[in-house]
Amino acid sequence: MQDLLPDQKEIYSHIEQVAAGVFASYGYREIGMPLLEATELFKRAVGEVTDVIEKETYTFDDRNGDSVTLRPEGTAGCVRIAQQHGLLFNQVQRFWYRGPMFRYERPQKGRYRQFEQIGVECFGMLGPDIDAEILLLNARLWKELGIEGDLTLELNSLGSNESRATYRDALVSYLQQVRDKLDEDSQRRINTNPLRVLDSKVLETQQLLQEAPKLNEYIDDDSRLHLNQVCEILDQCDVPFVINPYIVRGLDYYNKTVFEWTTGSLGAQGSVCGGGRYDGLVEQIGGKSTPGVGFALGLDRIALLCEENFKRLALADVYIASIGDAARQQAINVAEIVRSEFPELRCMVHCGTGKFKAQLKKADASDARVAIIIGEDEVANKQVGIKLLRDQSDQVTVDRAEMTAQLKKYFR
Ligand code: HAM
Repeated sequence: MQDLLPDQKEIYSHIEQVAAGVFASYGYREIGMPLLEATELFKRAVGEVTDVIEKETYTFDDRNGDSVTLRPEGTAGCVRIAQQHGLLFNQVQRFWYRGPMFRYERPQKGRYRQFEQIGVECFGMLGPDIDAEILLLNARLWKELGIEGDLTLELNSLGSNESRATYRDALVSYLQQVRDKLDEDSQRRINTNPLRVLDSKVLETQQLLQEAPKLNEYIDDDSRLHLNQVCEILDQCDVPFVINPYIVRGLDYYNKTVFEWTTGSLGAQGSVCGGGRYDGLVEQIGGKSTPGVGFALGLDRIALLCEENFKRLALADVYIASIGDAARQQAINVAEIVRSEFPELRCMVHCGTGKFKAQLKKADASDARVAIIIGEDEVANKQVGIKLLRDQSDQVTVDRAEMTAQLKKYFR
């Protein structure tokens, strides 16, 4: 689990802000969800034989003896909320959420046990247009963050439950034939979750899979048409993509469209955002049949991509230095005036004592453009000194009543 220091957190907050703006521009509304849910919800939604549920959840009994799980993802909780609060009855919904998720994985760069997701879930819309909409939304977000060049959209269709079952049988019979040559994990998955073998990162297994039956040869006509229509909209809107028949996703609830946004810049943690359609999930957890589609992006991974080009803000725009008790009190008052008059600026007061020279060094290190200086003379004459820190001009002294007008010359 990571400790996020201010330099990192600044990037996270920037991404969240940009995302919130993009979501609002598509009419999505934020929803808040608990970190803990009944274990049963995740078992039913995510699937008992997925890695996430088998090996990665933080699960414990609460004081009442009920089994609860720290959420490993957001879709299950969002579906529960929407259903429980009657938000799905004859309605369409577009939600988004953000926050930490928990998976007991082997940590490495870009993979953590507590990680942050920003996700979107849409309900009540069956057509390919909403699938395309969330992909356009993704593409716009990457563009606004300046990372669109790093990312590739990989698309696939898992077909209907029936067509997937037929494919599963064909795949299992192929995998049985080559069983001895598969890696250990894939051998185990033949009987538990054979589609996940397609996701294997082991080179020999990947080579064997080239001869395996292809999912796209088995999918039903309706799903094929659906995917084609999604692709057409993406084409029309100039969002590039590739079809990758090996994308199956690690969670069990998907059907039809599935996708991942991937990057080559983060080593093994190449998937920065994933999602797809889950038309059976609401019913599976006890609601009335309602189509759904969504995605979640890994904020930690997107932050790593943004790191390189991120322009950090200065710690302060205005730094206030003072000498003596009376001046220190005035510095605090002056700072409050600056904050009221210039709410967009960051104004930092030098707290404690210290020579002017030392204080101005701190001002310089804060990257502030302007230092306001208050000494005994300034207090006596109801004045302030103003010094531009980024050019060579001399300090000016103005009446306190003139301070705002003087600062406006620099900041407006
Ligand atoms: P997911 O693919 O399991 O999908 O996770 C989404 C994203 O979360 C991944 O693409 C990755 O960037 C990030 N992520 C996952 N695990 C970790 C980790 N251990 N450390 C850092 N980042 C990680 C879901 O969670 C689905 N609920 C997405 C969805 C929403 N599908 C439909 N609606």
